[in-house]
Amino acid sequence: MIKTTLYEPATLGAIPVANRIVMAPLTRNRAGAGLVPSEFAAEYYAQRASAGLIITEATQVSKQAQGYQDTPGLYTPDQIAGWQKVTDAVHAKGGRIFVQLWHVGRVSHVDLLGGDAPVAPSAIRAATKTFLNNGFADVSEPRALELDELPGIVDDFRKAAANAIKAGFDGVEVHGANGYLLEQFAKDGANVRTDAYGGSVENRARLMLEVTAAVAQEIGPERTGIRISPVSPANGISASDPQAQYDYIVDQLDALGIAYIHVAEGATGGPRDVAPFDYGSLRRRFSRTYIANNGYDLQLATAHLAEGKADLIAFGRLFIANPDLVERLQSGAPLAEINPATIYGGGAAGYTDYPRFDQASGV
Ligand SMILES: Cc1cc2nc3c(=O)[nH]c(=O)nc-3n(C[C@H](O)[C@H](O)[C@H](O)COP(=O)(O)O)c2cc1C
Repeated sequence: MIKTTLYEPATLGAIPVANRIVMAPLTRNRAGAGLVPSEFAAEYYAQRASAGLIITEATQVSKQAQGYQDTPGLYTPDQIAGWQKVTDAVHAKGGRIFVQLWHVGRVSHVDLLGGDAPVAPSAIRAATKTFLNNGFADVSEPRALELDELPGIVDDFRKAAANAIKAGFDGVEVHGANGYLLEQFAKDGANVRTDAYGGSVENRARLMLEVTAAVAQEIGPERTGIRISPVSPANGISASDPQAQYDYIVDQLDALGIAYIHVAEGATGGPRDVAPFDYGSLRRRFSRTYIANNGYDLQLATAHLAEGKADLIAFGRLFIANPDLVERLQSGAPLAEINPATIYGGGAAGYTDYPRFDQASGV
């Protein structure tokens, strides 16, 4: 058996976690009517409950926050009830689960928004696609948010965080990554505002920090984390000086006392070395848990934990086809491959029917 600190327990803010392996947030586009988590979601997440922490698929804080077909929300009573089934199932298996809360900003389509334009820091269309009508479509032209609309967005995150606790979640991860609204504000490729929310490192960080502070105030900083992706070009975004931007952001996040930063290092789902960036600088600036993600396998995860570069490691794609990823890594069992045809949308196929190794091998 491979012996490594990956399998040692840790404390994450207010909660103990059984090991250092995190299931990264994975959008699967299977929500049902009313954007309630699908009837299969409780089983899907419970199958993966041996992860030290599960972070759910990104989940909307409001109607305006949606950017893809059939992604769940957490702003109606039915959605809260649907998520309660998920958290109950994960807790019954001894797991821990945070919900990732997002607003997609400009990465959306008028067809998802009742004909309204997506909202963004500035009226700059993203060079990216959304998943719509079971296929991919160009995103729509966005409109710039008015200054007086921003407190409402902060409040939507605050309310969704309160709903998360009602639904039984152990905490909330603010989605500050991958080219969505909070990152659109933080990066100058999408934000050319000249008010208090644009034009300087401090101003561009403002909405992300206000949202995180509101969530932390609502549910406690020890139950609050955030995901960031400083150099990721995901969803057509760019930043001219990400090191200065994210050094500042992480200093401020540290001051908020939140439980963790979750850093997608490099291009999310792509090369880790897409642009020069000193992640050690973020690590040193943040005094609590650093969760690292992107392109980790057992070897890299073990090395980064041993070198003190991270406290926990989040695995994304590997968790889709390996519900028992923790046990497979620990025992050296082979890893199963994802079926690309069933990643987005559909029902149980490609969702809850990936077997554990002991089921697949008849052990
Ligand atoms: C199908 C799929 C869905 C994803 N959905 C989300 C999401 O909802 N929120 C998010 O922050 N990242 C999302 N990601 C990015 C993953 O969390 C992760 O950062 C990425 O897959 C790289 O990690 P990995 O190399 O371990 O897979 C998604 C990735 C994939 C492949």
